[in-house]
Amino acid sequence: MTETTRAHIFVCTNKTEPECLNRKLFGTSKFYASDVLEVKSGDLLFLLNVNSDVLYGIFRAKSDGRQNIVPEAWKGKYPYQVEVEPIGDVQAVKDAKKALQKSGVEWHKPLSASMAERLLTFFSYEGSEYLKEAKEKWGLLTPQKVNNKQFSFAEAVSELEEKPPFEATTLWDYPRQRYGKIPKGNNKYPGVTPAFIIWNMIQRYTEPGDLVLDPMCGSGTTADVCKEESREVICYDISPTRPDIVQNDSRKIPLPDNHVDMIFIDSPYGDNIRYNEHPDCIGKISSETETFYEELEKVMSECFRVLKPGKVIGWLIGDQWVKKKFTPVGFNVYQSLSRHFDTVDIICVVRRGQASHTGLWYNRARRFNFFLRGFKYLFIMRKPSQQPEKQEKRNIKWAFYDRNRTKTKSS
Ligand SMILES: C[S@@+](CC[C@H](N)C(=O)[O-])C[C@H]1O[C@@H](n2cnc3c(N)ncnc32)[C@H](O)[C@@H]1O
Repeated sequence: MTETTRAHIFVCTNKTEPECLNRKLFGTSKFYASDVLEVKSGDLLFLLNVNSDVLYGIFRAKSDGRQNIVPEAWKGKYPYQVEVEPIGDVQAVKDAKKALQKSGVEWHKPLSASMAERLLTFFSYEGSEYLKEAKEKWGLLTPQKVNNKQFSFAEAVSELEEKPPFEATTLWDYPRQRYGKIPKGNNKYPGVTPAFIIWNMIQRYTEPGDLVLDPMCGSGTTADVCKEESREVICYDISPTRPDIVQNDSRKIPLPDNHVDMIFIDSPYGDNIRYNEHPDCIGKISSETETFYEELEKVMSECFRVLKPGKVIGWLIGDQWVKKKFTPVGFNVYQSLSRHFDTVDIICVVRRGQASHTGLWYNRARRFNFFLRGFKYLFIMRKPSQQPEKQEKRNIKWAFYDRNRTKTKSS
């Protein structure tokens, strides 16, 4: 969200709308938690009912965005909440999605100043001193400029890039190392992690305020993503690159047992990258040797010890093909991980920005009949919880296809 943006659209459905309006409370699930936590008392708010396609406005935030202001609202399904009060009479704009689209207002993203200005033109508010002041204070564009269509679409586009996609499948791909306007880690650091991977992990497996650990933090990508998403973070590296990363060998982690809510780690994949000159850097050991996996297993044991039961670790790793020899580093690491943790899922992350992804190497790969590495594994593993898991009966309805291609259902 930009500094000048002090306006937000909340979304509801026919089912959730009555509680929003009666309780004077807007809420979201944890996936939009970081946006809600940025809402400050006094911000302008709007409510879009996506079923009836009606936009309600104008409201002002009566509280800052917080977790569980009214824990029982919407049966606890939308715990990130803000108290609201209408500015004057509540007005309803019909066919709202089309109107928003026509004016270039992205309702599922934080609003830029120019979007907020365009949104305000949907409502009549001439008499409102509060809105006049708000417009001056937050530097919204003048209505003339809006009517003359002089607002900047470049601004709207850059807002679009503010957050990476929330991945739904097991194939993750993003064209750049970073997203948004603020750098995440240092994209010149050898082996830097694409920030969208960490963003997706923390969206799924943590809540704002949770504590995330990266035991091999390199240039600090995990630190930057976590801070922007209101997560607490502890970062170590054998050779720290900045003051918020603590020097530590991850084979011994100086934290108590069952302490952190999630771990993300992008470990060395062997000795293919020269990270630093520290003698204890695991990136000096070849992944063609047993020692490499033995040392990583020590890191895994420590990760297991400090992770809270029931919580998740994401381990990013790639295979190696060097001098005509393939090493299944990913499978080997997975074998070790699964001695400690339960598997949640395995993600295939497309490798981009590799030094070998050039025309020269593509030609060599074809001429000499080998493959360049096109993906990495992200192993998502869970430390078993201490309570025995409730075994639910699984009733699977497969669709079977017979030879003449008609579909038959079976259970
Ligand atoms: C792939 S890089 C991590 C990149 C990082 N996630 C980023 O985005 O910049 C692997 C890191 O492991 C660190 N490392 C290697 N051996 C280590 C050890 N024994 N303890 C802690 N860190 C270690 C290296 O210094 C390197 O920074």
